[in-house]
Amino acid sequence: MVIRMKSSLQYGTATQPLNEFIRSIRLVRDEILMLDQTLLPIEEETLVIRDYRQCIEAIKMLRIRGAPAIGVAAGAAAWLAAMEFEGKGDYLELMHKALDEIEASRPTAVNLFKATQAIRKIIQGNDAGRILEFTENLIDYEIEACKNMGIHGAEEIKGEKLGILTHCNTGSLATVGIGTALGVIRTIAQDRPVHVFVDETRPLLQGARLTTWELMQSGIPCTLITDNMAASVIATGAVDCVITGADRIAANGDSANKIGTYGLSILAKHHDIPLYIVAPESTIDRDTPTGEQIDIEERKPEEVVGFREVRTAPNGCKVYNPAFDVTPAENIAAIITNTGIWHPGS
Ligand code: MRU
Repeated sequence: MVIRMKSSLQYGTATQPLNEFIRSIRLVRDEILMLDQTLLPIEEETLVIRDYRQCIEAIKMLRIRGAPAIGVAAGAAAWLAAMEFEGKGDYLELMHKALDEIEASRPTAVNLFKATQAIRKIIQGNDAGRILEFTENLIDYEIEACKNMGIHGAEEIKGEKLGILTHCNTGSLATVGIGTALGVIRTIAQDRPVHVFVDETRPLLQGARLTTWELMQSGIPCTLITDNMAASVIATGAVDCVITGADRIAANGDSANKIGTYGLSILAKHHDIPLYIVAPESTIDRDTPTGEQIDIEERKPEEVVGFREVRTAPNGCKVYNPAFDVTPAENIAAIITNTGIWHPGS
């Protein structure tokens, strides 16, 4: 496909209804069932997790990822810890230590800390049932939030036919419902034709591996591009708007999301197209005044010097690998949440 002009694009509506979505994590009997996202789309393997330490490892390794899904995984890990420590004399001490370990897994997505802080407040002894109930309520909340973000987003984003660019993965895999940005895209595509450009999202390729996989299951036309192609694709006029998610939104609207989102916001501004951030209230951190105070995770150099077993850079080469960047509120046309639309820059 050569994108010379918008009229050459193939647009289409979704074939998959909104009540069908992949379950990234489930709590069944006394186990966590988790789709291992590091193997997708080549292998679809479900992990059976019985130890909270294994759940922490899964969060660290991005077997489960995406802000709302990480929040649920934190609750699920605490549930396993409570089952393990119940009946022990130093139960509360062990639980707070386990919650410290869960909090040390990934620093940026605020959903994780909201879950652990809420659990710290309810633990008193014999809490497994209470934590299970908390985590199942969180799953219900996030499913409903995704649905409502979709409704608000589809109302806010006008246009009969839309070319949309997205970054990272914000679908069912990253949430426990239809998704944040991808949920809005799926909702729009129920009755309006769209074409989605998917940034591959270096270094871990969440766009190439996960977003294309989800969009293809939804029957939504999409085109994969490498991250450095976004500017030239936008310059063709094929992109009407950029829609992404967020991992933590500060009180002033500055939004941390997958590395590369800030660059897209500058491109969108330059080309006079809107960039929308889609996130549930659980991703808004009103205790953090601006993006400057958001802790940005730096990950291992190994993720940049190659992919899986294939080495691409010379041994010893220095690497910088921040997992997120901050898009200033002034570059965001609107933040679409489950409770409504927020125009942070105005
Ligand atoms: O490092 P990841 O894959 O966990 O990063 C995920 C993102 O940046 C998503 O865009 C974000 O969590 C919001 S969508 C649920």
